[in-house]
Amino acid sequence: MKVLLLNGSPRKEGCTYTALCEIADTLKKEGVESVIFQAGNPETENVKASAELMKECDALIVGSPVYWASPSGQIIEFMDKFSSLAGKYMVLKPAAAVASARRAGTTATLDVLMKYFSFHQMPVVSSNYWNMVHGNTPDEVRRDEEGLQIMRVLGKNMAWLLKCLEAGRNAGVAAPEAEEKIKTNFIR
Ligand SMILES: Cc1cc2nc3c(=O)[nH]c(=O)nc-3n(C[C@H](O)[C@H](O)[C@H](O)COP(=O)(O)O)c2cc1C
Repeated sequence: MKVLLLNGSPRKEGCTYTALCEIADTLKKEGVESVIFQAGNPETENVKASAELMKECDALIVGSPVYWASPSGQIIEFMDKFSSLAGKYMVLKPAAAVASARRAGTTATLDVLMKYFSFHQMPVVSSNYWNMVHGNTPDEVRRDEEGLQIMRVLGKNMAWLLKCLEAGRNAGVAAPEAEEKIKTNFIR
């Protein structure tokens, strides 16, 4: 079992990365592998590389800093391209979004990121609060005890759901039958 964690900040080892590391450490303790991918660069070749990872991973977590009370422009561009390239590998896999902010705009950021999950029929994994950390520097995030706990609980819940899904598959529970997509563009 493996989880793909996308870091949607142009800062490779900033606050979002610090939050994702707390999740990755928890997943490891629960016996689940993970990979953190630098998604702050939305160039097509970079997106293609992450789409290949999505194919082999069982779940997705998308982290973003809050920019102007929204996800970073970089992760929005990245996820628009990622959904086209990796959409078929996202279907029915558990997912979660994480926001990092100095102060405000976190829930709006989470709402935007979760749209990518609900379109792809992904079960959304939650924590004991909305998935956010606060800080302008990694050190500030490491001092956000509540934020770090939210990340740990999210990691544990993700590991639990992945194990439940595996147990279900092993017991013969089949994935829901896929339907051909109907697109009416509101015209009948
Ligand atoms: C362009 C820009 C816009 C920002 N807008 C907000 C904002 O609307 N609300 C907020 O609380 N923090 C805002 N911040 C601060 C970042 O969200 C915060 O420092 C975040 O933890 C940085 O994560 P990172 O180190 O992973 O990039 C902004 C930062 C930048 C660079």
